[in-house]
Amino acid sequence: MSNATYNSSDLIDVQERDGVVRLTVNRPKALNALNPEVLDALSEVLDSLEANEGLRAVMLTGAGDKAFVAGADITRMREQTPQQAQAFAGHALDTVRRLEKLPVPVVALVNGFCLGGGCELALACDWAVASDNAMFGQPEVQLGVIPGFGGTQRLPRRVGPAMALDLMTTGRKIDASEALRIGLVNQVMSQAELDDYAEKLAGQLAGNGPRAVGAAKSAVYDGMEQDVDSALKLEQSLFALCFAGDEQQEGMAAFVEKRPARF
Ligand code: CAA
Repeated sequence: MSNATYNSSDLIDVQERDGVVRLTVNRPKALNALNPEVLDALSEVLDSLEANEGLRAVMLTGAGDKAFVAGADITRMREQTPQQAQAFAGHALDTVRRLEKLPVPVVALVNGFCLGGGCELALACDWAVASDNAMFGQPEVQLGVIPGFGGTQRLPRRVGPAMALDLMTTGRKIDASEALRIGLVNQVMSQAELDDYAEKLAGQLAGNGPRAVGAAKSAVYDGMEQDVDSALKLEQSLFALCFAGDEQQEGMAAFVEKRPARF
């Protein structure tokens, strides 16, 4: 399936193969900056993704070889009143939260500038892989604002409060190797390698038990919001729930019969 199934706009390009959907933010002339129309398009795509029972993984990237997403659209924010800014941020917060809540792994393929709202979009993905030309940052204070698409909450959870506040109060940009060192991204590779990596990862993710993958995601995120004893109980319940369907039977039978599992 491709764009037309998901989306009436070309601002988010959608390609689907074997349950893996690749989304590309498609405004390369503006370095894929997020304006309300891009957020509307992403929201529309999410309507279909949420209803797609065959979905196994989502990969998110930016069009062109220069940027993942260079932030929220500054030209559009420039004239906003506080009320309009509140509504714009609300639209973005709802949209990225829906992306984060998908029951499948969502991976950011960061292929260049990943700044402001772009970095916040990557943070709403479960993990990120970056090309070696990628640059990250939360430069909002240089524009007289703060991150408004979830960065003040997701960045400290990903890299710790001290590093998050370093990035958010200086506005400095960091390269891919520093992003790797602080745990903002999981891997760094050349831009040419990113596509092959995505292809292999898609096969790997699509080959695992989908309910188990969803349960792992919910154990981590829901558990992180609880005290450790409650979170361990949550893990126990989700572990037990895995034995209620046929996935566990197929996975373990495949191991014993020395064959690949078919989920
Ligand atoms: N919004 C709107 N347009 C943007 C943009 C943004 N965030 N980032 C880049 N563009 C546009 C530029 O205006 C330029 O358009 P024109 O060709 O029409 O002039 C085009 O994309 C190419 O950009 P540059 O010519 O600036 O490219 P460069 O290679 O010289 O610089 C860059 C690249 C360092 C990323 C620079 O574009 C830049 O600093 N962009 C802004 C980054 C930023 O501050 N992002 C945070 C935005 S605030 C935010 O996101 C708030 C929030 O949390 C909600």
